[in-house]
Amino acid sequence: MRVIAIDGPAGSGKSTVARGVAAALGLAELDTGAMYRAVTLAALRGRVPLDDGPALGEVARTIRLDIGDRIVLDGDDVSEEIRGAEVSGVVSVVAAHAEVRTEMVRRQRDWVAGHGGGVVEGRDIGTVVFPDAALKVFLTASEEERARRRKVEGSDEGAAALARRDRLDSTRPTSPLKPADDAVVIDSTGRTAAAVIADVVARA
Ligand code: DC
Repeated sequence: MRVIAIDGPAGSGKSTVARGVAAALGLAELDTGAMYRAVTLAALRGRVPLDDGPALGEVARTIRLDIGDRIVLDGDDVSEEIRGAEVSGVVSVVAAHAEVRTEMVRRQRDWVAGHGGGVVEGRDIGTVVFPDAALKVFLTASEEERARRRKVEGSDEGAAALARRDRLDSTRPTSPLKPADDAVVIDSTGRTAAAVIADVVARA
């Protein structure tokens, strides 16, 4: 089973690169951030306190979640809603709970096994979810460039909110964002998506 792990902070280009690499190599692509966003939306809808790890774990285990071209939560297409400010503002708080992560990792491994491998992007893919991945990429970009990209994409998440989310993701005790020891670190600042995709494909 061939797995390519792509980790990195928000706005580093993970989604674009993962999509391009998956297309070039004929692999499926999994956006694990969308999964944490969907759990967060379910918790907000259910008014589950965001500091209650066991209750959030229960939400993670009981939702129906389809991750494909569209993100479908309990039968409802939430592809746009999970990218909104309300979810972006608290997703890192929800994702920090070990109970949530345990279930997400289980679902991610299941998904990849069901697709016979894939390009998987997130924060802990190379370190925790698929430590034996064939290739691990850690994508970075300058803070200015990452904030600018988010703006171009139409995101309403400002530079300060983005920096705060990265700080939370990098400093949490459970599966913090960091490069795996054997990851290739690629800085995408000032490079086109096509160039970075070609770079990753050449290493795969
Ligand atoms: O990739 P993204 O920016 O849509 O991810 C949203 C949040 O989900 C991110 O700030 C932290 C969390 N996340 C995580 O903890 N682990 C992952 N593998 C993917 C995302």
